[in-house]
Amino acid sequence: MNITDIPAAQKPALSMLIEDHRKVAKLVKDYQSEKSQSKQKEIVEEIGLALLAHTEIEEKLFYPWLREKDADTFADMLDEALVEHTAIKDIVKDLRQMEPGDELYDGKVTVVSEFVEHHVKEEEDEMFNEVIKRKVDLNGLDEQMKTMKEDFIAKHAQ
Ligand SMILES: [Fe+2]
Ligand SMILES: [Fe+2]
Repeated sequence: MNITDIPAAQKPALSMLIEDHRKVAKLVKDYQSEKSQSKQKEIVEEIGLALLAHTEIEEKLFYPWLREKDADTFADMLDEALVEHTAIKDIVKDLRQMEPGDELYDGKVTVVSEFVEHHVKEEEDEMFNEVIKRKVDLNGLDEQMKTMKEDFIAKHAQ
């Protein structure tokens, strides 16, 4: 989804989420071309923290907001998204206890990035598209998400 195509009413909240998605995709690319294990570890820490903060604001603010505004449209999508978040967070939590070179480390980075890619595609192509189509009022949500994200990152940085 292209940020420039989002109507003004939905842009602040959706663009914040899409920027997170792009940031993680870029970090995954950085990881793939990085040879130094200490730098790989830093990148994976950054990916993990970004994903934990992002899933937190979606689960605590964005998803409940959509469910409240229009459960008929969003409930099934949101349930599926929550299950995917759980799978993503489980791998992130494993990786945060591991070191590059550990058995399955690379495999876990690959699988989590594939899960994220699939999840992001569904969010942007289906959920966000529906938000725009149905003109869901997101007014004020971006401010709440920003605050929660900053607090979360301050608390959970390793
Ligand atoms: Fe997302
Ligand atoms: Fe999500």
